[in-house]
Amino acid sequence: MKNSGSNRLKILFASSEAQPLIKTGGLADVAGSLPIALSEMGQDVRLVLPAYPQAVVGAAPLIPVTSLKLPGYSGIIRVLEGRLRGDVPVYLIDAPDLFNRPGNPYADPSGADWSDNAERFALFCQVVSQLSLNRAGLHWRPDLIHCNDWQTGLIPALLAFEHNRPASVFTIHNLAYQGIFNRSTFSRLGLAEKLWRYEGLEFNNSLSFMKGGLAFSDWVTTVSPTYAREILTATLGYGLEGLLQYRADRLQGVLNGVDYTVWDPASDPAIPQHYDATTFHLKKINKSFLQREMGLPEREDALLFGHIGRLVEQKGVDLIMQILPGMLKFPHVQLVILGSGDPELERFLCQECGKHPDRIAAVIGYNEGMAHRIEAGCDLFLMPSRYEPCGLNQLYSLRYGTVPVVHRTGGLSDTVINATPRNLLVGSATGFVFDRPDVDSLWRTVNIAVDLYGRPKAWWHKLAVNGMHQDFSWNSSARHYMEIYQKAINNPALNPLAGAVLP
Ligand code: ADP
Ligand code: GLC
Repeated sequence: MKNSGSNRLKILFASSEAQPLIKTGGLADVAGSLPIALSEMGQDVRLVLPAYPQAVVGAAPLIPVTSLKLPGYSGIIRVLEGRLRGDVPVYLIDAPDLFNRPGNPYADPSGADWSDNAERFALFCQVVSQLSLNRAGLHWRPDLIHCNDWQTGLIPALLAFEHNRPASVFTIHNLAYQGIFNRSTFSRLGLAEKLWRYEGLEFNNSLSFMKGGLAFSDWVTTVSPTYAREILTATLGYGLEGLLQYRADRLQGVLNGVDYTVWDPASDPAIPQHYDATTFHLKKINKSFLQREMGLPEREDALLFGHIGRLVEQKGVDLIMQILPGMLKFPHVQLVILGSGDPELERFLCQECGKHPDRIAAVIGYNEGMAHRIEAGCDLFLMPSRYEPCGLNQLYSLRYGTVPVVHRTGGLSDTVINATPRNLLVGSATGFVFDRPDVDSLWRTVNIAVDLYGRPKAWWHKLAVNGMHQDFSWNSSARHYMEIYQKAINNPALNPLAGAVLP
């Protein structure tokens, strides 16, 4: 039952993408499902996104609810209200010359970053701060604004100097992408000069949007407990580990949840055959369908590996490429890959498919339905990420009985339990985990998986079905966020520039 009482929080959730309106990666999955989970817990949560063309279509019908003018932007900015999955209100910030473009939120159709990304997301941040201060005519003032990744990083910085501001929580989804721009961009954006300090937005003589979120928000979170520890080190802190250590008493890792109304093989409309843990044997129908869809020979005895993701260094796809010759020596192994990114990796993948069309199939591009069918049709899912703040595909794989093979890092290490002989015996294993992101470790682990698959079927069945029983729904993580929201509201952080001698 929804909560309409006085303990109901008003939360504005700001993101640069949200599924099903617009998606390039896991941030969209989170921004499209955590607000729904919070709303189901009775909170008054509203989402705010730029009005990209896809979002305008997806959130329809839209009502223009207010408009505003901002210094530095010549046009009128409209705020359009629609719904996320018919439930949560969504505000789309309509500044057409900045957001009404083809391509994705960050890049043009050729994949090159928009040259005015600083202007685009600075404007987004400015509008969102005005909304959250109830200065844009919405007649709604949130208790808290939840910002996500660098595109929203300026919001806490802009709010920090306001009296009677809402509390702010900033979530790091990937610290490697920081929104760094040069000094002249900082001046062009018309940001207050007092923010240009190393306690503020300045980072190695550049402007860092990410730092705005890390330095000025009341609480900082990231998307798994292990990643929350890893970013305190030089290896994964990307130069921000000092600031994060300084804020460690207000930094917490909260594991992402899964929306099982979207990712569940028992009801997934994108897959040909529904199944659950009690009808695991039906999964093989999805395997045949996938083999056909991908142009691979339809073989029930094949051991089908899958991978879905952005083809970038983070994801370790190059490691998969390097073990291909070895994998092909197993006559029953097949591999399907869906992804796009690095043109060299894309080319290499296509070449390999051309050479081994009966063993490897790759689709370059983005295809949501196919991603679901790969989860449903494969036996194993490869995720050798060099680092992984949380990762969602291993969680989807678990639910689909597609055993994940992962590097012990970030959220992968928090969610997959290694199939050691002991864990298999006691029934706790859910996947295969290796310690180093290198070719040898991945290769050794793939061999262990191939070996186990060849043993009596009951062993594999037990491993896969144990994964299916894991619960990574939003229930506990959304509650965890609520606790953090309360702490942020009750105990605001000091403005890091408040005590500084300002120029
Ligand atoms: P990241 O956010 O780093 O890309 P995650 O594992 O958190 O990684 O989330 C990736 C999300 O994007 C998943 O929902 C995955 O299925 C989806 N995805 C990635 N690449 C593709 C693609 N080419 N086609 C369809 N879905 C994709
Ligand atoms: C980022 C991370 C990924 C995480 C996702 C959602 O893109 O790379 O690990 O799951 O955000 O939080």
